[in-house]
Amino acid sequence: MKNKICLVTGANSGIGKVTTRELYRQGAQVIMVCRNQEKALQVKMDLEAQYPKTGGKLDIVLGDLSRQDEVVKIARDVRQRYRHLDVLINNAGLVVQEKQMTEDGIEYTFAVNHLAPFLLTSLLLDLLRQSDEPRIINLSSEAHRMARFQVSQLANPKKYNVMRAYGNSKLCNILFTRQLAQRLQPEGITVNSVHPGFVNSNFGAGFSGIYKVIMTLSAPFSISSEAGAQTSLYLATSPNVKGITGKYFVEKKVRKPSEAALSDYYADQLWQLSEQLTQPDAKLRHLKEREAQPLAE
Ligand SMILES: NC(=O)c1ccc[n+]([C@@H]2O[C@H](COP(=O)([O-])OP(=O)(O)OC[C@H]3O[C@@H](n4cnc5c(N)ncnc54)[C@H](OP(=O)(O)O)[C@@H]3O)[C@@H](O)[C@H]2O)c1
Repeated sequence: MKNKICLVTGANSGIGKVTTRELYRQGAQVIMVCRNQEKALQVKMDLEAQYPKTGGKLDIVLGDLSRQDEVVKIARDVRQRYRHLDVLINNAGLVVQEKQMTEDGIEYTFAVNHLAPFLLTSLLLDLLRQSDEPRIINLSSEAHRMARFQVSQLANPKKYNVMRAYGNSKLCNILFTRQLAQRLQPEGITVNSVHPGFVNSNFGAGFSGIYKVIMTLSAPFSISSEAGAQTSLYLATSPNVKGITGKYFVEKKVRKPSEAALSDYYADQLWQLSEQLTQPDAKLRHLKEREAQPLAE
């Protein structure tokens, strides 16, 4: 991975932290997208101290993925610092026990787990186009099989159920992956999604009540973040997956996702809704106009 530039969202914890570490150890420059400066700096300093001579580089870009203005800020910072991007890993994700709305007025899980990757990817596509072998990897989950997809209910569901909201967002990750892969196939940019396994990370740490009990009881069946990062790393680095696109991977193998995840109708509906809610073309135009302006003295 020497001379490769990779971006990992949620790089300070769990699967994203191991993914960042391994790419850095293999000599990549890793852009760590995190919302918490202290946590991000700690990870960067620890890795640099532990692995001083990888030839790689760690670079922090701060931003809260629940807010579209911050997703734009992340993209602006990346575009200012880099001319190309080889690997984009949309890894950050969460589960929210009670219904919460973001500052943009969108249900939190859907905003962070789907709309943020949709918008960030749209704003970074022209950097990926400059790479010799660009790859996009979206973290999904087997929880997508719990989804009940109703496009009109995604942004502000009338009835909120935590597992349904999470499952829907992870279904969105696969639908987005398939649709984007189709659109980008002529350009040679590959897009795949991943189920990392049931991972003993920080995921669901904020749960209380019955959900906390369920997490505690199921902990013995979980795998480590080390193991959970392996499929993301495989997709980011292996020559075996060159040219493979639009697939859902579990344990480094292609797996058939749910019927809903294979629906082109759902994928189209989701794409339209995501465009309507995030306006990526207008935001990209604005970014480019700013980039074209001469710097103030
Ligand atoms: N763990 C599992 O069993 C499992 C199973 C299937 C799929 N996945 C998927 O794997 C991915 C990684 O999860 P993980 O298990 O590594 O969980 P994790 O340890 O909780 O890490 C999640 C990362 O996402 C970041 N993040 C969350 N909300 C954010 C926001 N609004 N803005 C910016 N960053 C944000 C977190 O930042 P903070 O540290 O600041 O909170 C953290 O760095 C997720 O997409 C998840 O859905 C996990």
